[in-house]
Amino acid sequence: DKAGHKHFMSKEIAEQPTVLQGALSHYISPNADAVTLPESGIDFAKIERMTMVACGTAYYACMVAKYWFEQVARMPVEIDVASEFRYREPPVTAGTAALFVSQSGETADTLAALRYMKGKADTILSIVNVETSTIARESDLALPILAGAEIGVASTKAFTCQLTTLAILAIEAARARDHLTDAEVSENLSRLRALPGVINLALGIEDKCKTIARQLAEARDILFLGRGAMYPLAHEGALKLKEISYIHAEAYASGELKHGPIALVDENVPIIVMAPRDSLFEKTVSNMQEVMARGGKVLLITDKQGAAEAGDGVWDTIIMPEIDAFLAPILYAVPAQLLAYHTAIAKGTDVDQPRNLAKSVTVE
Ligand code: M6R
Repeated sequence: DKAGHKHFMSKEIAEQPTVLQGALSHYISPNADAVTLPESGIDFAKIERMTMVACGTAYYACMVAKYWFEQVARMPVEIDVASEFRYREPPVTAGTAALFVSQSGETADTLAALRYMKGKADTILSIVNVETSTIARESDLALPILAGAEIGVASTKAFTCQLTTLAILAIEAARARDHLTDAEVSENLSRLRALPGVINLALGIEDKCKTIARQLAEARDILFLGRGAMYPLAHEGALKLKEISYIHAEAYASGELKHGPIALVDENVPIIVMAPRDSLFEKTVSNMQEVMARGGKVLLITDKQGAAEAGDGVWDTIIMPEIDAFLAPILYAVPAQLLAYHTAIAKGTDVDQPRNLAKSVTVE
């Protein structure tokens, strides 16, 4: 049931405030002073490092989580795509927790990576949408993201729910490792609780995305740029666009531009820059100016202050609501989704069932 939407993907994008609300009340105590995990819990004070493994969009969620765990919990995190991890036979040292992220819980490579880590890692955690899945069953602790069934092949609400669950875990890890005081924990959790409202506000950019998408649909190649925890979002934006619009899109860390990809830039390659006004903003603006000086067409996704500071010369701007830097990656999933969705519509592709792709990749 598409609930009045033309596609499951648009229904699932629109559902995000509601499902996030559910996930937040599942994992955060009513007065926002503690993270509520199952009885068996996770003792992050005993974990020295984490290895996170997943595929596709779930891997990009891990990539964001690495920034979070390192920043707020000061915990070393290694991330890898499951298809590489499983055959590398990486050595695992004591004190390592393994975390697998999978919407379906049935992805063959992720499951194989999990089985490799059994008996090697101190504990096997998973973050899944399907609670009865194989990955959930084979984990010491499986945490549901509570996104509800996701039908569209392009993952949307599962991604934001994965991120939200990971953000909560990072805060809990920071508390357990004494990097956040009780007051800071509840400040962070309260901010998270406000997220559904901010996402709802962000859905208001849809018309703007639709207009821009008509022009993106003409492009053959598109670049996505981001810095810090926005770099994984650039990857997610590029993946979403490739999957459903079949336009070649690539993501780069903004600082890598001048190490090669800037050679691609001309007036035919739109460059989508995801950059809230944070501590790295100035650096991103200078990368943007390098691109514009070479005739590049920049679409800047930022907030009001960012737009004011970026100055002239950009092709277009999408103004996002203001948000705390820590939570920005969750919010900026919305423009990534809406731009891909409307570009696919403009191209007339099959949004929910793109060619060559399956919802769940149960073979390697
Ligand atoms: O079910 P999983 O989360 O394990 O699936 C992983 C990827 O196959 C999946 O995220 C894929 O990249 C999506 N189609 C992305 O939109």
